[in-house]
Amino acid sequence: MKRIGVITTGGDAPGMNAAIRSVVRTAHYFGMDITGFKRGWWGLIERDYIKMNLRSVSGIINRGGTILKTVRCPKFKKKYYRNIAIRNLKDLAPDGLIVIGGNGSMRAAFTLYKESKVHVIGIPASIDNDIAGTDETIGFDTAINTALYAIDKIRDTATSHERIFIVEVMGRDRGFLALNVGVASGAEFILIPEIKWDKYEILKEIKTFEERGKTSALIVMAEGAGDSIELAKFLEKKLSLPVRVSKLGYIQRGGSPTVDSRLLASIFGYEAVKLLKENKGGIMVAWVNDRLKFVPLSYPAEKKKKITKSLIKLSKLLSR
Ligand code: F6P
Repeated sequence: MKRIGVITTGGDAPGMNAAIRSVVRTAHYFGMDITGFKRGWWGLIERDYIKMNLRSVSGIINRGGTILKTVRCPKFKKKYYRNIAIRNLKDLAPDGLIVIGGNGSMRAAFTLYKESKVHVIGIPASIDNDIAGTDETIGFDTAINTALYAIDKIRDTATSHERIFIVEVMGRDRGFLALNVGVASGAEFILIPEIKWDKYEILKEIKTFEERGKTSALIVMAEGAGDSIELAKFLEKKLSLPVRVSKLGYIQRGGSPTVDSRLLASIFGYEAVKLLKENKGGIMVAWVNDRLKFVPLSYPAEKKKKITKSLIKLSKLLSR
């Protein structure tokens, strides 16, 4: 009987539970023994794990977060601790490990794969959607819809009070979340780290609002694009108008996953286990051009995902 393991690591993302459910149920379908390590890499180092049966994943497909818990684990960057993790992995789940997580998790999974020679499969899950090799990550669709829901409400206030609002969204040092939600919310400005922006240009444009009959503006700003408070102070001073900032923060990480996030999670979980059944490793399951794709783990570990910059232009044109 094959013995495999599963972990969730890095920031939680809605749909991680649906992915765990898929992994566990598929493993049982193929007659495999499945161990869930708690709190990501930490559980592998500390031998904190649970044996997962069909019922241990009941009623979780609709729940945000991860039942296996997750922590950021700087210890795993050290070879000493990785060696401990590798020893434990070979002892408890020698036939493969499925790593459900974000950008950093895919890098760590690749390192573990190279050093241990144990089959490791990556499942991309992150609200940031910043993993190279896949068009979409588990949780992204849920996060942008959560953000959109909030921004639509903020727009009501911006319109009624004829104010300028800066809405800061997550995304670490990338702008995928801001870009998608910015276009979808009809934002007048989308500020992302990948594209240089100039506060004087924003000011100049807002000054043309009156002649265009515009009385409010929505600026969607990625957390990595700069200081939203500082920008608000600048605009407020120059325009003699109130400029408000709303940082959406952690609400973007939680909540019940959307259909899209659950579907992706269910497909990825199944395919990841199937790869281990076929004795394959060093692969990330991915979604490219509406199709499933298997990408070498080295790809997300070494490449940077490209952003569709043309969407900014489109958003500008449509929000005039
Ligand atoms: O990677 C997901 C994410 O929510 C980023 O958007 C954000 O920058 C980061 O995690 C915050 O991480 P933490 O909760 O560990 O501070």
